[in-house]
Amino acid sequence: MSAAATMPPAPESDADPAAFKAAMRRLAAGVTVVTSRHGGTVNGMTATAVCSVSAEPPLVLVVMNRSSASHGVVSRGGAFALNFLSEEQSDLATYFAGRDGKSFDTVPHRIGASGCPLIEGCAAQLDCVLESRHDEGTHTIFVARVLHAETDEGSPLVYGDAAFHGLKPL
Ligand SMILES: Cc1cc2nc3c(=O)[nH]c(=O)nc-3n(C[C@H](O)[C@H](O)[C@H](O)COP(=O)(O)O)c2cc1C
Repeated sequence: MSAAATMPPAPESDADPAAFKAAMRRLAAGVTVVTSRHGGTVNGMTATAVCSVSAEPPLVLVVMNRSSASHGVVSRGGAFALNFLSEEQSDLATYFAGRDGKSFDTVPHRIGASGCPLIEGCAAQLDCVLESRHDEGTHTIFVARVLHAETDEGSPLVYGDAAFHGLKPL
């Protein structure tokens, strides 16, 4: 039985998609490129819906639109890598937010144990294999175990109010 089935009926929602998206734009988030591989198909997509789940064991989650090409590659390949972009890499964020014709030919990278690209110059990288998936609305929450974690010196790239930013201490 789902958790919702055990709760009292909720009031009607008045949060239309535009109001919901406007509110979510106020939530600044670190920018990642989620890379994936299945056979000869390699893909990357920009994602901010990424979260730490647990440190022992090391688990993360990414929320991915089922209409994205990456969703199919992650589902079939059973793995992904999270590349936490640095503030010098906003061009990669824009590139991997595109839909078609993305290639790693001009993106410096190496291949991790999962088979997915680890992009050079990132603030950090996590190489991961899938543990579970949960379909919700139009998206899937992929939970994955971290095989390898690496941190570099670059300062993280942040997305908020529909623009890219660097981190500024108060
Ligand atoms: C800053 C930013 C954050 C994004 N975050 C997500 C996300 O968390 N999940 C998602 O499914 N799409 C997200 N997107 C949209 C995808 O990057 C976009 O749909 C991309 O074209 C998918 O590529 P693919 O179809 O090759 O997988 C984001 C886009 C931008 C610009």
